[in-house]
Amino acid sequence: MCGIVGYVGHRRAVGVVIDGLERLEYRGYDSAGIAVGHVADGAPARIEIVKRAGKLEVLKIALEGRMLEGTIGLGHTRWATHGEPSDINAHPHLSEDGQLAVIHNGIIENYGELKERLSAAGHVFLSETDTEVMVHLIEEHYRGDLAAAVREALAQVTGSYALAVARADHEVIVVARATSPMVIGLGEGENFVASDVPALLAYTRRVIFLHDGDMALVGSDGVTLTDLHGAPLARDISEIDWDAESAEKDGYPHYMLKEIFEQPAVVYNTLGGRLVGETDVNLDLALDPHSIDRAIVTAAGTAFYAGLVGEYLIEKLARLPVEVEIASEFRYRDPVVDERTLCIVVSQSGETIDSLEALREARGRGARSLAILNVKGSSISREVDDILYLQAGPEIGVASSKAYLGMLVAFELLALWLGRARGTLGDDGAREIVRALRSVPRLIEDTLTHRPCIAEVAETFKDKDHYLFLGRGINFPTALEGALKLKEISYIHAEAYAAGEMKHGPIALIDDDMPVVAVATQGELYLKTLSNLREVRARNGILIALAHPGDDMVGAHADVVIPVPETHELVSPLVNVVALQLLAYETANRLGLDVDRPRNLAKSVTVE
Ligand code: M6R
Repeated sequence: MCGIVGYVGHRRAVGVVIDGLERLEYRGYDSAGIAVGHVADGAPARIEIVKRAGKLEVLKIALEGRMLEGTIGLGHTRWATHGEPSDINAHPHLSEDGQLAVIHNGIIENYGELKERLSAAGHVFLSETDTEVMVHLIEEHYRGDLAAAVREALAQVTGSYALAVARADHEVIVVARATSPMVIGLGEGENFVASDVPALLAYTRRVIFLHDGDMALVGSDGVTLTDLHGAPLARDISEIDWDAESAEKDGYPHYMLKEIFEQPAVVYNTLGGRLVGETDVNLDLALDPHSIDRAIVTAAGTAFYAGLVGEYLIEKLARLPVEVEIASEFRYRDPVVDERTLCIVVSQSGETIDSLEALREARGRGARSLAILNVKGSSISREVDDILYLQAGPEIGVASSKAYLGMLVAFELLALWLGRARGTLGDDGAREIVRALRSVPRLIEDTLTHRPCIAEVAETFKDKDHYLFLGRGINFPTALEGALKLKEISYIHAEAYAAGEMKHGPIALIDDDMPVVAVATQGELYLKTLSNLREVRARNGILIALAHPGDDMVGAHADVVIPVPETHELVSPLVNVVALQLLAYETANRLGLDVDRPRNLAKSVTVE
């Protein structure tokens, strides 16, 4: 949800800022801009701004041949909230005298009333953005001390922000954070600011994650942290263990494809060191499994679907009642939660505002909390009792793939741990699942070898307007996730239903023009799924089935079979979903769409 980058040091800022924006473009890509402070006689004399509607490439073309020599820079890649994507609404926003530049991620909620007051006082607004009020407010309060002006301006503002401000006559960037993420990268004689760690990895791995209500003066020689009243603050320096290469495409045409192919390693790494022997799990959690009577899983999008798999696993293996709630609903619906409830929040980014607020809601009512997260140091990580980290590395593709796999592994481990601790999962049952989990990396490799077959399916059906996805039991969420992936990146309308629910309405949609993708891998409900496939065939539906190789019963009904290897049913979602990720990827790619940056989306949704 908007990416921001700042640099102050000894290099040409433009290179560092553009480099950082390239790595943050997954946060928003409807317009982009850069501001560079120009040094004259040792002091910044003016700020030059270039900004353009469209993706970062458009800005890069506009920068060709421009001599931006300054060593202080700000950059922004936007996901519009207030005002359409246009050159004028793109950030940075500049003051009327050209001395002050501001970039912002978040929403200034009271911008309407502030704009009215400032306009009446003679300020001239150029854009439709909420951010521009910050420029005028800071200008109004500026009396030679930039940090003080930012503080006084922020005192009048309600809303969320990660804000970075530069002035032509200052050699520092002033930053502040409320709700929207911001991290400072520490270098030698240079320092960096960004919304997210991947923007910094090429330069440093020593970072400070700002907390809500933190401000910082970032200069080339040091960083001074304060609260919003100017009182000094101390924050820990974290060492990031991701390397710069993990945020590169590594020869793949798209991040999403690379991330799909990284999944065997993600499963291996997320299991890594947590399985103990043949039957047990060590998760290093403070949680006493006997202190809870139920769990609520809350999350958004793909993470929500991972939660649905988690519900199935935890109820089956640990006999603990679980509800799964869409975070944006849960936070507003006066939920019944007490101190014997475990709230499990699931998030790749750890920054999704709905998930963070749902967590706060549950904790405020006394719940214990556990987060399943990918990004270390994220906002959710700071507000939760226990954390289970995925070992997925940075996920750059806007459509989530490898993080979903990591989340599923985390739920498998959690369900095993709870089942063992609560005495509901015996040695034999645990051994079967542990064995199956250890073989998942190999089974995913196997599924990936079927890419050519999946690409053929994509080619055949890429021009269809609608798709239906069906699954049952623990693979109903697989169908939901398959449909979401197809919608997100190919813009084909796709719906997912529990296969048994189809006859209660959606069956009316079936005709000879709509592909139906059915997850038909063997399991407890195999025969029932077969009946559902027959129902589709009887209505001339086009049937694409995910089935085990050699499954003639499914083969007899399906137009096309995508083979997926056999495994324990409780582990099968980890293998099956990979085929559906590839189907979405191959379809979008054949339609010539921008797989990594689908229209209208942003990777982490940090506004409501
Ligand atoms: O970072 P999070 O896991 O909290 O993000 C939640 C959703 O916004 C995210 O999964 C979204 O649905 C993705 N675009 C899915 O591909």
